[in-house]
Amino acid sequence: MAVRSATINVMAAAALKAARGLIRDFGEVEQLQVSVKGPGDFVSAADLKAEKTLRVELGKARPSYGFLMEEGGAEIGSDKHHRWLVDPLDGTTNFLHGIPHFAISIALERDGEIIAGVIYEPVRDEMFWAEKGAGAFHNDRRLRVSARRQLAESLIGTGIPFAGRGDHLRYLDTLAAVMAATSGVRRMGVASLDLAFVAAGRFDGYWEFNLRPWDIAAGILIVREAGGYVTDLDGGHAMLATGDVLAANDHVHQPLAQLLKAARRGAAAN
Ligand code: IPD
Ligand code: CA
Ligand code: CA
Repeated sequence: MAVRSATINVMAAAALKAARGLIRDFGEVEQLQVSVKGPGDFVSAADLKAEKTLRVELGKARPSYGFLMEEGGAEIGSDKHHRWLVDPLDGTTNFLHGIPHFAISIALERDGEIIAGVIYEPVRDEMFWAEKGAGAFHNDRRLRVSARRQLAESLIGTGIPFAGRGDHLRYLDTLAAVMAATSGVRRMGVASLDLAFVAAGRFDGYWEFNLRPWDIAAGILIVREAGGYVTDLDGGHAMLATGDVLAANDHVHQPLAQLLKAARRGAAAN
């Protein structure tokens, strides 16, 4: 049975409130595709509005906690132990193009460790959440990573770097290796939901480079609490520092890690 703690209730309520604004604004975006100016400025404003709602709601419930927000940056709280990591709109490019796949991601860090995470996908009303040691949930259903053992049967999520971001050649070597060894690769455009999909057993694994802490903090905890493994690309745990992440079920993580490592070694030798 899913028992939501006071912390999870605070996070979920803040996410639901910000999501109402995002859904309203998403309805407008379609109209704007055909305008000469396009929806760019409108979407930036929607993003900022959602972040403001989250800042106000989380701040009201826990006035002393600090923040690390994608748009607003870092804010030090009077409580030096706790900090919220907030991505008000993960999947901005999807949102901008009228693609109904985006999310709000909120994590709570205590002394550098992620202790609670909520990822909310408003279009399908999917709330993914976890607390350290208490399991991971999808709405009120317990989450569990997939049981697939073979890479050849596995569906793997990823993030493809785009103009101005990341090392494209390094990425292509890893993609070539994974596409040849698995039953498919998906690029959905929302890092937080990619991790939630691993936790839910929809993806068997996921890798991406160059992410930011607010993209992945909540998702890392949710995958782990669903029984999955999350590491950086060297098998360590510096995901938030490096921005590189590999998440997978307990069977597929090691072979996928080896594949990615070999692809990068091969790339270095060329
Ligand atoms: C992006 C998404 C995307 C990932 C990008 C992120 P944003 O976040 O999570 O899936 O590939 O690298 O920046 O900009 O939409 O919040
Ligand atoms: Ca993001
Ligand atoms: Ca964002």
